[in-house]
Amino acid sequence: MQNRFTPAPPFQSDKVHKIGVFDSGVGGLTVLQEIYRQLPHESVLYFGDTARVPYGTRSAAEILHFTRQTLDWMVSQRVKMAIVACNTSSALALDTVRNEYDLPILGVVLPGARAAARLGRRIGVIATPATVNSNAYLRAIEEANPLAQVWQVACPEFVPLIETNRLAEPYTLAIAKAYLQPLLDRSVDTIVYGCTHYPHLEPILRQFVPMSVQFVNPAIAVVAAAARELNLLGLQSHLLAQPTTFVVSGNPAQFAQLATQWLPTQPSVQQIILPTVPVS
Ligand code: DGL
Repeated sequence: MQNRFTPAPPFQSDKVHKIGVFDSGVGGLTVLQEIYRQLPHESVLYFGDTARVPYGTRSAAEILHFTRQTLDWMVSQRVKMAIVACNTSSALALDTVRNEYDLPILGVVLPGARAAARLGRRIGVIATPATVNSNAYLRAIEEANPLAQVWQVACPEFVPLIETNRLAEPYTLAIAKAYLQPLLDRSVDTIVYGCTHYPHLEPILRQFVPMSVQFVNPAIAVVAAAARELNLLGLQSHLLAQPTTFVVSGNPAQFAQLATQWLPTQPSVQQIILPTVPVS
């Protein structure tokens, strides 16, 4: 497909290029943390589409359009691989965009679902409304383990609460209890974070979810898959990683202030303006 930004050079199989990681906001930082842990030699270009967060209550057409715009831009920045660190984009757009770019593109849903299917028998999925409605987790878990029982809960308030840094408020704990209670009533043994923002909630969720229930963070599995793919393609870096480049579509200072709590150092954040095109 045509890249709508500066002329895209052809995809270069170049080990020194960055891995592109993107999300609607700070959720993808849970994937970035795993890259720091599992792939310390890789440099990352992180994009947060904060001008348009949340994605999880938008239409499939909008999510596909935003995902394409971000991938166009990432290709123009010559990333060697893209990780869709957003479950909503992974669930609704990945199958379509994967064939449109000459670039390895990984999503979080499949690795997360397979990890959950390996670990649990009674599995709860917490995710955005768009991801729940897509049934992407349900299908992938059932395919990986037909004996698994799966219950899904949409949690529309979580992303806005995290993006506005309201984690410590009593309201966040109360709404978390209300969302997760139906899963606890089903005696789930496993809960999948079906949204990359949700691992940021773990200290709150652990206040009432018993330790017998394990949380699955798909970030761990997607970065392991990325490591395997880089290896297979001969694209892994052996150099020292450069500091992560952070770019957002919204307010860079606001992103930096929020993101610092999950990063080893204060990020320096730039802004890009993505063209707004009406989506039906
Ligand atoms: N982190 C995104 C996800 O995994 C959040 C989507 C949103 O912006 O609602 O789905």
